[in-house]
Amino acid sequence: MISVTLERTQTAQKQSGLYVLFFYQGQSLENLSSTLPFTIDTLEAFLQARKFIGGSGQAVSYLVSGTSDTHVLCLGLGKYTVSSKLSVESYRRAVGQAIKQARLLLVSSVTFIIPDHRLFEVTAEKLVHETVMIARMTEYHFDDYISDESRKEHRIDLVSIVTPYSNDYDLLQKNSDTAMIIATGVNRARHWIDTPPVDATPLFMSEQARQIAQKEGMNVTIFGEQEIINKGMGGLAAVSRGSDVDCQMVIMEYKTAKKDAETIALVGKGITFDSGGLSLKPAASMETMKDDMSGAAAVINTMSIIAQLKPDVNVIGIAPLSENLPSGKATKPGDIIRFYNGKTAEVKNTDAEGRLILADALSYAVKHYKLDAIIDIATLTGACAYALGPYFAGLLSQHDELAHKIEKAADVSGDYVWRLPMTPDYQKAIKSEVADICNIGDGRIKAGAITAAHFLQNFVEDVPWAHLDIAGVAFDVPNISYYRSGATGAGVRLFVELVLNW
Ligand code: BES
Ligand code: MN
Ligand code: ZN
Repeated sequence: MISVTLERTQTAQKQSGLYVLFFYQGQSLENLSSTLPFTIDTLEAFLQARKFIGGSGQAVSYLVSGTSDTHVLCLGLGKYTVSSKLSVESYRRAVGQAIKQARLLLVSSVTFIIPDHRLFEVTAEKLVHETVMIARMTEYHFDDYISDESRKEHRIDLVSIVTPYSNDYDLLQKNSDTAMIIATGVNRARHWIDTPPVDATPLFMSEQARQIAQKEGMNVTIFGEQEIINKGMGGLAAVSRGSDVDCQMVIMEYKTAKKDAETIALVGKGITFDSGGLSLKPAASMETMKDDMSGAAAVINTMSIIAQLKPDVNVIGIAPLSENLPSGKATKPGDIIRFYNGKTAEVKNTDAEGRLILADALSYAVKHYKLDAIIDIATLTGACAYALGPYFAGLLSQHDELAHKIEKAADVSGDYVWRLPMTPDYQKAIKSEVADICNIGDGRIKAGAITAAHFLQNFVEDVPWAHLDIAGVAFDVPNISYYRSGATGAGVRLFVELVLNW
């Protein structure tokens, strides 16, 4: 993986294969090479000849004359005016583009000349944070299972950062280090999600959580299938019944040294493969269902990150883990199950399994901890993916203050969310004639992402609660330079931002 060095000078000193410069549209092309370790007289003429104007997404690379291995890459950030600043997201995408370009040029070191942070209305350290984070995220590979060496992508080893607009190097270094820790967690979440379901089983996940807890000095409790049954966690047990492997319930605890700190719980859906169970999915819908543990991967890796960054808030991370498969023992449509909090549900569709395992996890969290907030994250509904597409996760909450906090952390982190309504009309959709509630909504009410959230609401008592539906954003997000096909690690950046500013 990429390692990062911050240069403690305002012009680049280190030798690099690629130097990256950023331009807003219409920015003067004079003094182009003042931050570079060499002067290039021809660069301005070159850019003009290529009609480079700094437009969003524009990119031209230039081989420095007299060298065979030193390039300059000029990237456009789009229009800037005093009333409409450049977006940090446009910067993230430009950084992603730079790393991809470096890969194509087969260079192994890249120097970023950080642009003026005032163009974005953020601090210099924020741009350093994003540069490190996105460089690492773009460098993510998943080729463990590819044997043909020629198909393995070129690696970038070293990123250097030059900050002409700030010389508060200790602060910048601290932000760079923090971003490294977060990006490492994001990439590990992606790695677990991309790992085939034959290997990324519930037991694999719980073992990863155990190792992380040991390494970072956190308490961890793990229940196996028999304990889950004995404790009356009937939702998780019902989903796991068709599978030959044990389900698991992971509970991790991060404790701050600060007295009287608040406590929040993060709960992540961990279905390591979702076939739909007896309500079997069609083949095409099943193809990507190894991603159905993305919520659990986000929570466990968030716990690892915050144990290293040590915020002043207690955090409980919970991951219910199971496969959802059909078999002679599988839960049947029509079955009624009883959850950890005593409530019952009619299972009309075994493919609405995420809410069943989350129900036990949420019930456990609110029963055993005095919580100031609880947030769950889940690849819960195809309906949410259809409503919002791959660029916003669904945010559902009846607690405005918590929802606003999450919206703010989402905007800052780049893990974007869009709030959907939760009003009593939708609540009626999950009525059951034979049990307390039903696991699918009344077809006439249609809004599947919302009715799923109303189901979960039954398990959080009076604790301020929010639900993130990441079904659309967890996997195969197109047209964003710093992602690739496969897992995105959605939720990790958001959770860390939220917790660090709690
Ligand atoms: N894991 C799926 C949701 C999903 C769909 C995630 C697409 C990622 C991409 C979930 O368990 C599911 O099957 N939901 C059903 C619910 C329905 C039966 C009420 C769905 O969305 O079809
Ligand atoms: Mn399902
Ligand atoms: Zn599922």
